[in-house]
Amino acid sequence: MNYSIIHIKTIEAEQCGRISFFEGIHDLPFEIRRIYYISGVPEGKMRGFHAHKTLRQLLFCPYGEIEIILDNGEEREHIVLNRPDQGILLKSGLWREMLWKKSDSVLCVAASDFYDPEDYIRDYDAFLEFRKSGEMYT
Ligand code: TYD
Repeated sequence: MNYSIIHIKTIEAEQCGRISFFEGIHDLPFEIRRIYYISGVPEGKMRGFHAHKTLRQLLFCPYGEIEIILDNGEEREHIVLNRPDQGILLKSGLWREMLWKKSDSVLCVAASDFYDPEDYIRDYDAFLEFRKSGEMYT
């Protein structure tokens, strides 16, 4: 499927927490044009239910636990994000749903482009058509 799990560089300080970091271009295969994060979601709630035509993203969960369900039109995979040193690099053309396994978990996203509602596919059947048309990938 069109994603990879990446290790986010993290340095632990004894009894003093840890720091995690990444840089556009150096650590990600794109320049970061936008950062956003989703918070305050109750346990058991789902968000997402869309795909992107061209956007690439790094998803990470520095606090809590969120299940990311990815769908390429043929199969579905479930990935649990629950560590500050773990991220999912998503290419475009993947349908995603996100399940909050613990309330107050924070989902952070570094994205390759500015917000563009035209880049979204919010209808699952339209997503399947998009996959079939082969208008991809970045
Ligand atoms: P959306 O991407 O649909 O969130 P989710 O997939 O998690 O449900 O975004 C929700 C709303 O926020 C939508 O009205 C668009 C707006 N939004 C922006 O204006 N800029 C952004 O960068 C993002 C991600 C969302």
